[in-house]
Amino acid sequence: MTPMVSILISMGQSKCTGYLAPVDFEADLKVELTLLGITMLETHGRLILCEGEAQDVVFAQDTWHDVEKVSYSSIGNAAELLRGRANRWSHYSLNNHRRAELILEKLPSVKIKRYNFLDPIPTTPIGVFSLLSESMMLVSNRTNCPLPFGEINFNEDKINPPSRAYLKLWELFTLYKIMPTPGMRVIDVGSCPGGWTWVLHNIGCDVVSVDKAPLDPRVAALPRIDFRQESAFGLRPQHIGKLDWFFSDIICYPDKLLELVTRFRDSGLVDNFACTIKFQAPTDFETMFKLKAIPGSKIIHLSCNKHEVTWINLKQNSK
Ligand SMILES: C[S@@+](CC[C@H](N)C(=O)[O-])C[C@H]1O[C@@H](n2cnc3c(N)ncnc32)[C@H](O)[C@@H]1O
Repeated sequence: MTPMVSILISMGQSKCTGYLAPVDFEADLKVELTLLGITMLETHGRLILCEGEAQDVVFAQDTWHDVEKVSYSSIGNAAELLRGRANRWSHYSLNNHRRAELILEKLPSVKIKRYNFLDPIPTTPIGVFSLLSESMMLVSNRTNCPLPFGEINFNEDKINPPSRAYLKLWELFTLYKIMPTPGMRVIDVGSCPGGWTWVLHNIGCDVVSVDKAPLDPRVAALPRIDFRQESAFGLRPQHIGKLDWFFSDIICYPDKLLELVTRFRDSGLVDNFACTIKFQAPTDFETMFKLKAIPGSKIIHLSCNKHEVTWINLKQNSK
C-alpha cells in the first residue's frame, strides 16, 4: 500500500475548512467570512479555504470539513488514497478534469440525479476531492450536504404551479425536511401568482394567502385557500389568529421583513417561520445577521435562491 502524504493547508493550523459559494456569490461569501472574522487562506474557483473548524456560513452552499492537500502519483494511487476515507465520493472540478473523472470511476461515487418532490435523500456523508495539479489534490472526507455541492435538481412540474418559486419550498421540504404537516394552518404573504400557496395546499395545509395582486385563478379555486388581496404590511396577527407557520416570499427590503416577522413573533400566535430575505445590491448583511440572531433561527442559501436567502425560525429550536 502506498503511504499517503497529507499536508495541512496552513502550517501551524490544526483545521482547515472549505466553504463553497453558490454560483456568482463568491464576493458575498468573502464579505460574510470577513464579517465573521474567519481567516481566508486560499481561493480555488468558488471554494474558499479557511482557518479553523467549520462555522455556520450562509453564503456557503456546502461546507467541506478538515480539508487536506494530498499528494498522489497516478490515477490508481489517488483512488487508493481516497478509498476508505469516505463511502461516497464526488469531484469538484478545478482542472485536470479527465484525470479526475478517471479517479472517480475507481471510487464509489455519488450518482447525480433528479429528485421528485419529497423523495428520500441519501444520508451518508459525501467525501469530495479536487485536483490542484497532476500530483496534488484537495481532499475532504466529509461535507455538510448529502448531495454534491449542496445542490438539488428536481423533476419539475411544468404544468400545475403558476410560477417557478415553488421550487424553493420543494427544496426546503425535500432536502432540509423542514415543513408543516397536513392540517396545519399557515399564512403565505407575497403569495401571487401562487406557487408557494399551491405547494402548501398540496401538502394538506389550510392556507391564508395574502398579496396585493390577484392569485392565479387555478390556485384561487383550490378548496382550502383563504385569499386576501391586501398589503401584508397592514396585517395584524390578532386578525389572522393562531398560525402554525408563517411563509413569506414578499418583495421588500430586509428591514421591512424583519419588522413584519417581529410583529408576528411578538404576538405569540405563530410557531414557525420560513421567509425569503431578498437583497438589493449591496447585500444587507446587517439585517441578515439580526434575523440569524433571533433564537431558533437558521439562514440557508437554497440552490434556487438568487440574490436572496431563506430565513427559518422553528419554535422547537428557540427554547
Ligand atoms: C416573488 S413574488 C412571490 C412569488 C410567490 N411566492 C409564488 O410562489 O408564486 C413577490 C410577491 O410579493 C408581492 N408583494 C410586494 N409587496 C407586497 C405587499 N406590500 N403586500 C403583499 N404582497 C406584496 C408582489 O405582489 C409579488 O406577488
